[in-house]
Amino acid sequence: MPYPDHLQQKVEQAWRSPDLEVLNELRQAQFVAHNIPLTRTEGTRPGEPLIAESPRTIAIHESLQRFAGPDLAGKTAVDLGCLEGGLSFELRRAGLEVLGVEGRAENYEKCLLVRAYYAAMGGMEFVHSDVRAFQPKQAFDVVVCSGLLYHLERPAAYIAQLARLTKPGGMLYLDTHVAPEDEGLRACAFAASLSPLKTETVEGVSIRYREYSEDVALPESSIDNSYSVWMDAASHLEVMFAAGFTRIFELNGYFGAGEQALKQRYCRRYFVALKP
Ligand SMILES: C[S@@+](CC[C@H](N)C(=O)[O-])C[C@H]1O[C@@H](n2cnc3c(N)ncnc32)[C@H](O)[C@@H]1O
Repeated sequence: MPYPDHLQQKVEQAWRSPDLEVLNELRQAQFVAHNIPLTRTEGTRPGEPLIAESPRTIAIHESLQRFAGPDLAGKTAVDLGCLEGGLSFELRRAGLEVLGVEGRAENYEKCLLVRAYYAAMGGMEFVHSDVRAFQPKQAFDVVVCSGLLYHLERPAAYIAQLARLTKPGGMLYLDTHVAPEDEGLRACAFAASLSPLKTETVEGVSIRYREYSEDVALPESSIDNSYSVWMDAASHLEVMFAAGFTRIFELNGYFGAGEQALKQRYCRRYFVALKP
């Protein structure tokens, strides 16, 4: 990964001389998804690959280099629905000034531990907020919306908010579920929780979507809505374009052979959208 030397040195400094009190707290915290390195040999989810090694993180790093880089110093990023702060940590390591936004207190507390552990690195802040209510004074060069959009009841309206959060010339990275077509429904791992396809017009744009039943008790789910809306792939493109993103790229090639079957099973897509 193209980590700037001065930041990598700060990371390694934390590994060499860790804050033992915070390290102990991190060891006791139950991380549910993000395996963030704590030392050269230990992470927040022992036995799992580090978040830096996951194909979706590599896709983000490469997109940053292509569309926002190569020098990210001084540029800003927001990581929406940041869970345990793993992607925020990776964005910071890549050189961005990062703000993670998380609506669930138990997740936010873990983000604060990660921030405290890597305090010497600086440039990584977190806020405990519902993303729907998050109205920062300034927009960001990079907006990361990963694993969040499909937890909202009004994703089309939220894409308009994503455009407002993105500076002119900035990029949105969107990693999300899309509603499968009827012929793809049986292959979809979430078929049992999805409604039939529906159609609606939102601010002049016709969208097709399925409703999805959410279990709000899970740490990675929506924070209060028990159903959310998954738009189909074409609707995402139309809504992003209507919101002001004029170039939209879809990413493939990070999961090797069988990638299309995997994406069909998990109804997952990765987009980079640019604002002029
Ligand atoms: C599936 S996880 C994705 C985590 C991370 N972005 C990633 O890609 O690994 C969804 C996260 O969004 C948070 N979340 C869901 N709805 C939210 C909302 N309305 N406001 C803030 N956070 C929310 C959840 O608490 C959870 O941490």
